[in-house]
Amino acid sequence: AEDGYDLWLRYRPLPETQAAVYRSHAAQLVLPVATPTQQATRDELLRGLGGLLGHAPAVASAVDRDGAIVVGTPASSPAVAALKLDVRALGRDGYLIRHAVVDGHAVIAIVGQDDVAALYGAFHFLRLLQTAQSIDHLDVREATRMSLRVLDHWDDLSGHVERGYAGNSIWDWQKLPDWLDPRYIDYARANASIGINGTVLNNVNANAAILTPLYLDKVKALAGVFRPYGIRVYLSVKFSAPIEIGGLKTADPLDPAVQRWWRAKADEIYALIPDFGGFLVKANSEGQPGPQDYGRTHADGANVLASALASHGGVVMWRAFVYSQHNTDDRAKQAYTEFKPLDGKFAANVLLQVKNGPIDFQPREPFNPLFGAMPKTPLMMEFQITKEYLGFATHLVYLGPLFEEVLRADTHAKGNGSTVAKVIDGELDGHTLTGIAGVANIGTDRDWNGSDFNQANWYAYGRLAWNPQLSSRVIAEEWVRATFSNDEAFVKRVVDMMMLSREAVVDYMTPLGLHHLMGKGHHYGPAPWDASGPRADWTPVYYHRADHDGIGFDRSHTGSNAVAQYAPPIAAEFDDLKTIPDAYLLWFHHVPWSYRMRSGRTLWDELVMHYTQGVDDVKQMRATWQALDGRIDAERYRKAAVFLGIQEKEAQWWRDASIAYFQSLNGLPLPAGYAPPP
Ligand code: GCU
Repeated sequence: AEDGYDLWLRYRPLPETQAAVYRSHAAQLVLPVATPTQQATRDELLRGLGGLLGHAPAVASAVDRDGAIVVGTPASSPAVAALKLDVRALGRDGYLIRHAVVDGHAVIAIVGQDDVAALYGAFHFLRLLQTAQSIDHLDVREATRMSLRVLDHWDDLSGHVERGYAGNSIWDWQKLPDWLDPRYIDYARANASIGINGTVLNNVNANAAILTPLYLDKVKALAGVFRPYGIRVYLSVKFSAPIEIGGLKTADPLDPAVQRWWRAKADEIYALIPDFGGFLVKANSEGQPGPQDYGRTHADGANVLASALASHGGVVMWRAFVYSQHNTDDRAKQAYTEFKPLDGKFAANVLLQVKNGPIDFQPREPFNPLFGAMPKTPLMMEFQITKEYLGFATHLVYLGPLFEEVLRADTHAKGNGSTVAKVIDGELDGHTLTGIAGVANIGTDRDWNGSDFNQANWYAYGRLAWNPQLSSRVIAEEWVRATFSNDEAFVKRVVDMMMLSREAVVDYMTPLGLHHLMGKGHHYGPAPWDASGPRADWTPVYYHRADHDGIGFDRSHTGSNAVAQYAPPIAAEFDDLKTIPDAYLLWFHHVPWSYRMRSGRTLWDELVMHYTQGVDDVKQMRATWQALDGRIDAERYRKAAVFLGIQEKEAQWWRDASIAYFQSLNGLPLPAGYAPPP
């Protein structure tokens, strides 16, 4: 049955004409099988070629016919060594795929820097076939500037996934380390296929128990499954662990006993897991303990952990997601205010992990002003793949355009073209330790992600982690071909639908720079009227500031002046009503309902128009999908069709609730073209 389990690694038979061409290039497979990674590479090629082409080529130890596929490194494969390539020139995790002649026979060579790079090359080759590319003239050369390409699981040890909408945690802690669910291997395959090379197993709201021997044995077992696929494990740690599981009276980072404790803990972990990746830390944020509890800085805290890990090659990923109810300043400013002065104070193996925007994974935010503002510190991007604020599992929202918009944003930190992508890939400030994290949308659902289309977000994240310059449309097309079909008309229509989906959700939830209007706590559905609860900065009214006269959060120089955290050209652009892009208007400005937009409409009319547009876009997405009934299997067709129905209802709910609420404040007539529900 087509239950989505195979993700984009479906490998269903290609049409015979296409398969026949490919078969002539896949007459034989010549690769080493001495190591687990080499065996994984062989297994994947046999599975992929067998599935796509109808039968798998024979594995041989030397080339003895034309049309062989030769895979490996110069060290692992005599056939590759004979090509006399300078693999060091390939770059980080780099590989090439090209035609060559070995022992007088025409072959396709898939050559990597090391075993894992060769595995990446094998996945790339399979993708060419899956997406119906010509392989007659191959000249692929790939490398990445991003050293850490990580998934963050917000998985609790109880099996619950914080902000997870695809079932429970796939880590079966109770049965580990003895029982290794085969799903762990499929997880590793999927990640390796897109170049993800790290996984943080547990929630940033961490449980100190993960660092006890009982759990470390389980972590070791998972690390063993992932190692052949080039994936390292990391753990979220709780800053108070020295107290909670270490029996100390304090977790003060400057206390020698605390420092010894962390060093001993790191030594213990590395004795079990020699390639352990390091720690992720949420400290002094939303109630989590941290160095400030002892009057120390984030850098003091991060550096103690970093020093414990350094001799083992581990890193600390320290999160910049902090904001305090005791700080009455604009929440959007707090991370910058707190971290910018610490630039240059972090140890060399610390990365600062910064959410893409200054608030919290909204459908649209301007880029986080920390990007470009801390040149002496490697900044790691944190995206959210799970759709906490974008309709959970059911809404079809392809996040590729959101990721791309942030990565391409120009910080102007060092003149024009100082894009966020160049900040995180190290190019702008000369960092070689670089990283990106995506909060995973993975759970125990058969389809892994709560819907088939959510798989595209995992896929797009991985592809952009490898190369932050890729186009989200190109990625969507790859994904549709590998996941559904190479039928050109189908591909075109589904990619168009996906590319529309992100703007649709912005329009029906939070158009024109509005943000954080979701219901408190769960973050599902509209609640712009909500002013209740313990903290102002958790209530929608804090963010939209609407009243009878106008709407929007004044972050210009007349308001919180958050604009001043951006480099001067951006600060000037965002500060000025004449230049602020419509998309960010109400993020940075409070304007009257009668404000004249560039379109000539009033703000009120424009707002209603956007809400209406969002619903219309979902209707169009739904109609697009309905017209494709019969082009793919009934199971996956039907699930997406039903989910689009849910999305349409909920888009209407967002539109009608939001318009009714804002109208209750401003008392203005509804513009023509919008009729409220009966
Ligand atoms: C959001 C989210 C929390 C999460 C937090 C974080 O606030 O709602 O569930 O813990 O971000 O990223 O730390």
